[in-house]
Amino acid sequence: MDLFGEAVGAKPFLKWAGGKRQLIPTIQAVLPATLRQEQGLTYVEPFIGGGAVLFWLLQTYPNIQRAIINDINPDLVTAYRVVQQRPQELINALTAIQEQYHRLPTEESRRAYFEETRVEFNTRPLEELRNTVLLIFLNRTCFNGLYRVNSKGHFNVPFGRYAQPTICHPHTIIAASQLLGRVTILEGDFATVLAHTPANSFFYFDPPYKPLSKTAAFNAYATETFDAVSQQRLANVCRELDTRCQRWLLSNSDPQNTDAADSYFDDLYAGFTIQRIQAKRSINSKGDSRGKIGELLINNYAAEQVAELA
Ligand SMILES: C[S@@+](CC[C@H](N)C(=O)[O-])C[C@H]1O[C@@H](n2cnc3c(N)ncnc32)[C@H](O)[C@@H]1O
Repeated sequence: MDLFGEAVGAKPFLKWAGGKRQLIPTIQAVLPATLRQEQGLTYVEPFIGGGAVLFWLLQTYPNIQRAIINDINPDLVTAYRVVQQRPQELINALTAIQEQYHRLPTEESRRAYFEETRVEFNTRPLEELRNTVLLIFLNRTCFNGLYRVNSKGHFNVPFGRYAQPTICHPHTIIAASQLLGRVTILEGDFATVLAHTPANSFFYFDPPYKPLSKTAAFNAYATETFDAVSQQRLANVCRELDTRCQRWLLSNSDPQNTDAADSYFDDLYAGFTIQRIQAKRSINSKGDSRGKIGELLINNYAAEQVAELA
């Protein structure tokens, strides 16, 4: 228990589309079996998103002393830096905004407050702390708690009709801040991360998934879309890491969900270990189709290093 009487444990401080919390047991089963004993290993996550795997991994494998995380989304990266460096200021500001919001008497007044805040958030640049306070506020009060921007980079998720949402989770921020103390935070394209990684690194890649169909796509984390060229660039990075004897694990959607003959990733990652698994999807473009869907876990380390899949 921490100062606030809640279970200690770092976990995502933002709800983020594609979050991997549900998939952690499956991911754990395909990690290199030696990970728990290795010393001097750096964990690298170039598409950090909500960071579910990072927070779980650093707590589960305390021998991993260092991590490098990256994302192309500047609001997200700023939030990680603020949580890392200014947790108490963040908690104070979120508590203040939560008190203001909870005092609003009607849904209409909450909607108006939300919409004004969204306008302020889209008036960039904002000071870093303010940017993160507004990001977390919008994440807790918008429809379905997701982050989505339009082609101009404007956050455009509508109001969510929650009466008393919890906007500030102090224990989550403090636990995340402590864990981020051993993490280097980078902003940019995934390919730029390689220049910052030491020889003994383990990579987990969780890119925006390849859309299963044109309408099912949720691919709006940032102004730039993650297209076929990006998927190919990522496969090239994985091949480059393989030639350097660096281990990696990658997740993606399975195109065979909609076309059993689609061998897109089987071709792109030919020669590596490809496993087909079932995962729960909680956010899609409409936010209403939930259920199990086939996903892929691909890695470049020998099968005998991997514990049996549960
Ligand atoms: C599927 S999400 C990651 C989900 C995350 N693993 C989690 O558990 O929440 C993909 C992330 O990749 C980021 N991204 C998109 N294009 C990128 C690029 N070219 N380089 C680096 N990050 C990118 C998005 O901003 C998004 O946060």
